[in-house]
Amino acid sequence: MVHGDGPGDDLYHQYFERTGDAFLVIEGDRFVACNEATVRLLRYGTREELLQVHPAALSPEFQSDGRPSREKADEMMAIARERGSHRFEWDHRRADGEVFPVEVLLTAVPRGDRVMLHVVWRDLTDRRRLESDLQQAQKMEALGRLSAGIAHDFNNLLVAINGHAELLVGDLADRPEEQSCAEEILRAGSRAADLVAQLLAFSRRQVLRPRTVDLGDVLAEMAGMVRRLAGEAVVTEVEADDRPLWVMVDPGQVTQLVLNLAANARDAMGGRGNFRLRAARVVVEAATPGLRDELPPGTYVCLTAVDDGTGIAASDLPHIFEPFFTTKTAGRGTGLGLATVYGIVRQSGGSIGVTSNDGVGTCFAIYLPEAAAPAADDEPPAEAPVAPLKPASILLVEDEDATGRLVRMMLERAGFAVKVAAGGEEALALLGAPAPGYDLLLSDIVMPGIDGIELVNLARAAGCTLPVLLTSGYPAEFLAQRGDLPAGIDLIQKPFSAHDLVRRVREALERS
Ligand SMILES: Nc1ncnc2c1ncn2[C@@H]1O[C@H](COP(=O)(O)OP(=O)(O)OP(=O)(O)O)[C@@H](O)[C@H]1O
Ligand SMILES: [Mg+2]
Repeated sequence: MVHGDGPGDDLYHQYFERTGDAFLVIEGDRFVACNEATVRLLRYGTREELLQVHPAALSPEFQSDGRPSREKADEMMAIARERGSHRFEWDHRRADGEVFPVEVLLTAVPRGDRVMLHVVWRDLTDRRRLESDLQQAQKMEALGRLSAGIAHDFNNLLVAINGHAELLVGDLADRPEEQSCAEEILRAGSRAADLVAQLLAFSRRQVLRPRTVDLGDVLAEMAGMVRRLAGEAVVTEVEADDRPLWVMVDPGQVTQLVLNLAANARDAMGGRGNFRLRAARVVVEAATPGLRDELPPGTYVCLTAVDDGTGIAASDLPHIFEPFFTTKTAGRGTGLGLATVYGIVRQSGGSIGVTSNDGVGTCFAIYLPEAAAPAADDEPPAEAPVAPLKPASILLVEDEDATGRLVRMMLERAGFAVKVAAGGEEALALLGAPAPGYDLLLSDIVMPGIDGIELVNLARAAGCTLPVLLTSGYPAEFLAQRGDLPAGIDLIQKPFSAHDLVRRVREALERS
């Protein structure tokens, strides 16, 4: 220890000993004193043991910028002696070999004809972890916005491509060669629509139809499918504890989520190994390490998927949830599986974490907020049978000319009478005319001027009780800004086929 004879010496000594930062003293090229915090930080047994170690052994051979630690340490100390003090970041090595980041402050203290260095180390591990979590979250947000934008624009294009192709297929029945060309367009178009749907899922802007389900039931129903997917040589276990495990989710999305995890496990195990899916209730009290997004304390249903496949390389781990990140050869993977899983989990209010050891296996953990038990009459309505066509007149509001023409064609071919309005203002005028005579209002949501939701609200306020079906390229985003849809309003997501559109129009008419 530094000895002195002033009356404040004891005070400084106490401070040196009690502070939470690691304090040391360098004389020449050795540490000659340190406090208990240093011993704890470096995980040594005693202070004596630590002080006997050569300082070089307390750092890895190289720093993160690639420079040899010894050479760089000499330079840092020289700067501190010259300038009086010097602050910088450094990688240290604990007794158990773990390398960790610290902030170092060196202060030169002249003692007679020598210069001692007073050293403070502040552990940066937690700060670095927070910084990288924040960076990850920001990156995922940015990717989400990007993919939502792409999905939105592509959806509008796909409405036109797939819709016209579908009409052509119908028209070309007596010209098989041309018809098969149109069928090819339709096939490629619907593959594109699938990709866009996955992007929408990732960006958390798809329309979910959540209801309260027992995750145990969902898993039990899927067990057969998961086994078939994983293959015969994989030992697959599917279990649920603490039933019932109520969660508020879109069951179709959860099915997709489980299948994506199972497909990845199968690929990682090369068709042979152990795959285990398990759901159980867990109470989250404090921040749970390893989760991509922090969860508020509460009760969750945790779904874990564990395989003993290849594992994920540490350098790949930060990227696996990014859309189009794949380590599989072209044609074997698009890299959208986990991006979709991530989006579904986040949109359902949950969080996901992954731990993986290269060569040993991987564990995904998905936390979904536990929901209240459903009321007895909360059963989902049975799928409505497709109603017989009743001749009906539809007011179609669409600001994009090409889409308007196409949708009109789709509807007219199904026997509906269609009047097109190019915007909300025109539609209101038509609805306000004496005896307008429409049976359904079919409107795009996003339009310049009066948008679809304003249109519905204004029409309702004016006493119009028409059933309404809205269309949009990315409705969930819009709804998030606007609150819920007005009551009793249906929504169909672009791109839709003529078949879907006509079915939804009939359903809306039936309900009225
Ligand atoms: N269980 C797992 N074991 C090992 N690696 C995995 C596992 N799950 C995912 N990965 C890694 O994460 C990458 C991304 O997975 P993701 O499901 O998003 O895409 P993909 O499987 O490559 O393609 P896609 O799912 O679109 O067919 C994979 O390419 C793989 O490297
Ligand atoms: Mg996959």
